[in-house]
Amino acid sequence: MDQALLKQKFIERYGKGQAPDFYFAPGRVNLIGEHTDYNGGYVLPCALSFGTYLLIRENPDHVFRFASLNFDNQEEIVIDGFHKLPNNNWVNYPLGVIDQLKNEGLKTSGMDFLFAGNIPPGAGLSSSASIELVTAFAINDQMDFKLELKDLIHISLQCEHDFIGVQCGIMDQFAVAMGKANMALFLNCRNLFHEHVPMNTGAYSIVIVNSNKARGLADSKYNERVNECSMAVEDIRKSLDIEYLGQLSLEDFRKVEHLIRSPLIKKRVAHVVAENYRVLESMKALKDGQVDALGKLMRASHISLRDNYEVTGSELDTLAETAWDLEYVAGARMTGAGFGGCTVNLVHWDKLVDFEEIIKKKYFEHTGLKAGVYSPGIGDGVKKI
Ligand code: GLA
Repeated sequence: MDQALLKQKFIERYGKGQAPDFYFAPGRVNLIGEHTDYNGGYVLPCALSFGTYLLIRENPDHVFRFASLNFDNQEEIVIDGFHKLPNNNWVNYPLGVIDQLKNEGLKTSGMDFLFAGNIPPGAGLSSSASIELVTAFAINDQMDFKLELKDLIHISLQCEHDFIGVQCGIMDQFAVAMGKANMALFLNCRNLFHEHVPMNTGAYSIVIVNSNKARGLADSKYNERVNECSMAVEDIRKSLDIEYLGQLSLEDFRKVEHLIRSPLIKKRVAHVVAENYRVLESMKALKDGQVDALGKLMRASHISLRDNYEVTGSELDTLAETAWDLEYVAGARMTGAGFGGCTVNLVHWDKLVDFEEIIKKKYFEHTGLKAGVYSPGIGDGVKKI
C-alpha cells in the first residue's frame, strides 16, 4: 500500500500536526490443523503478505477516533466508560483491545487511528486478528507499555473471547504476531511451543481461493463446535484425565470412544485426533520438500472437515474437489473456520493462470458465485514500518 497516500488520508481526516506512526499486521492462511487450536492441538499456519496498516497519533482530547479506508463509519469514543458498539461494528476489534489493556491496568491516552486493509473481507483470512494485533502492537509501542509479543497475543485473544464473543483458539493471533516471511509456523497450542518451518514447496505456490459465500452463522456454528468438544472432554474424563481433546492419541481414542455421548460428537473427536497427526506429518513433509505427501494430507484434512466436523458446505467442497481433479495441483483444502471462506491450494507455478481460469469457471457453473483467486506471498508478523 502507498504510504504517502495513507498519510495524506490521515491528514485529511485528522488534520496536520505531528506525523503519524505506521504499523502493519498480516492476515494468515492455515496450511493444515483445522479446529485443533481450541482443542490444545497442533496447527501449521503462515502469515500473509497482505494485512492491515495502521496510522496512529496521540491526541490531547481524551477520545479515541477510529476511521478506516475499508468501512464508511467513523467513531469517536470517550476514553472512560465505553461499551461494545452494536451491529458488528468493526471498531469493536480495536476497542476490545483497548478494553483488555485497561483490564490489565494499562490506560491508553487519546489516539487517532486510521486503518487500511487489503485482506479480502469475510474470507476467513483473519482480518480480525490482524486488526487486533496491529492495534495492540501500536498502542504498546506508543504508550511504551513494554508488553511482549506473547502478551499482545493474549490480549487480542481475550478481546475475541470477552468483547467480541467468539470462543476462538490462539492460532490466528499467534500466526499474525509471530509469522515469518517464507516460513510456515508450527504451533503446539497447548504449551505454545513453536517452530518456523521453511516453505519447501518447490515449484508449487500457495494460491487462495475465496468462495465469496457469506459466512452468516459462522460465529454461532463455531461456538457450537467448541461446545461439542467440551462435552466430549467431559465424557472422556470419566476414564482418562485429559483437559483437551488434543491430548488424545489414536489409541486412547479407541479405548474411550464408547464413553462419548453421541455418534455426532464421536465424529467431532475423530476429526480432532486424526487432524493432529496430519499436522505432524505435514510438518515433516514440508521439511523434506515432499509436496505430494503434503497434498495428500491436505486432501484428507478437507474430507474429515467435510464428513466428521461438518464445517465445509457445498461451496468449499466444490472448490476443493475441482482442484483435486487438476494434475498440476498438489493439494487443496478449506482453510480457517469453514462455513464459507477460502480454500488453500498448492498449484504448480507454471499453471497459475490455467488454475485461476478453470476454478472460476467450474465454481460459477456449480454455484452461481464468483470465486476470488489470490497468490499472496508468505510474509512477516506484526511490525512497525
Ligand atoms: C478460526 C479461529 C481459529 C481456529 C480456526 C479453525 O480461524 O479463529 O482459532 O479455530 O477457525 O481452525
